[in-house]
Amino acid sequence: MSFSEDVAKGLSGEQKKLPSKYFYDADGDRLFQEIMKMPEYYLTNSEYEIFSTKAEAILKAMGVNSGAFNLVEFGAGDGFKTKVLIERMLELEAQLTYAPIDISKDVLDQLEENFLERFPGLNINPQNADYFEALERLGSVSDLPKLVLFIGSSIGNFSRDQSIDFLKTLNTKLRKGDKLLIGFDLRKNPKIILDAYNDREGITKAFNLNLLKRINRELGGKFDVEAFDHYPLYDPEAGLAKSYIVSLKEQDVYIESCQKTFHFGAGEAIHTEISRKFSVAEIEEIAEKSGFVVTEHFFDCRHYYVNTLIELV
Ligand code: AVJ
Repeated sequence: MSFSEDVAKGLSGEQKKLPSKYFYDADGDRLFQEIMKMPEYYLTNSEYEIFSTKAEAILKAMGVNSGAFNLVEFGAGDGFKTKVLIERMLELEAQLTYAPIDISKDVLDQLEENFLERFPGLNINPQNADYFEALERLGSVSDLPKLVLFIGSSIGNFSRDQSIDFLKTLNTKLRKGDKLLIGFDLRKNPKIILDAYNDREGITKAFNLNLLKRINRELGGKFDVEAFDHYPLYDPEAGLAKSYIVSLKEQDVYIESCQKTFHFGAGEAIHTEISRKFSVAEIEEIAEKSGFVVTEHFFDCRHYYVNTLIELV
């Protein structure tokens, strides 16, 4: 489905919603890069800490020094944290081909330029695609063993069933011995989690509302962005952070490419994102249900976050 079709469908249902994958245009990428630098957004710091302090153990568990392999990364973004791992891989003289996959062409171009400057001669093969398109192509990549990265808590944007479906499909594209490193944000004090999606400076608000701006820019939408607000919440029972865009008054908004006017009631919420938080037991259940075996968990010192290595045996 196109952006326009997804928007028309999402705004026509009983509960309005917009898919979070549309956050990431050039402005959204820039705002997400700012989010990753915020003190409240502990996820990036935690994962960076794990990679910086445990790279040796991670690479050893991945079996990185035993021949050539493909390093495939889903949702690579600007590759800020992956750089740490690749640096160590190259120190071990690993023979790798790096295939970063991202839905945003802008951020992939940035990544490629940045990585080639830092690692001249790196074998890099960027793919501008969403997860599901990329999955389809994965089987035909090459005969080499694969290490797959799915870090940054990207898996948190999937529902439980979606994450199992995704990993099951991925499983069918991999071979015995192939490995997958996944970043999961752990359950913790709900206040800490809520703050990460509700920063004081309003960067997350701008990130969320950029969806409406993008509809205005690309689809001829007539949203008055000032008439909407950002509303995040965290449900500790479900381990679910949810973000909404709320209409501050009753209003009608025309979107040219949909050739349709959409009505918003006062206080009506558009659901834009879920960011799931996990227990170790939930992580192990997901791995097992999708046919993988957990090899090892790598935690940060605060146990806010975990990188779990799973394997096809
Ligand atoms: C990139 C999907 C991991 O859900 O934490 C950050 C996106 N949304 N602040 C997340 C996001 C609001 C982020 N992921």
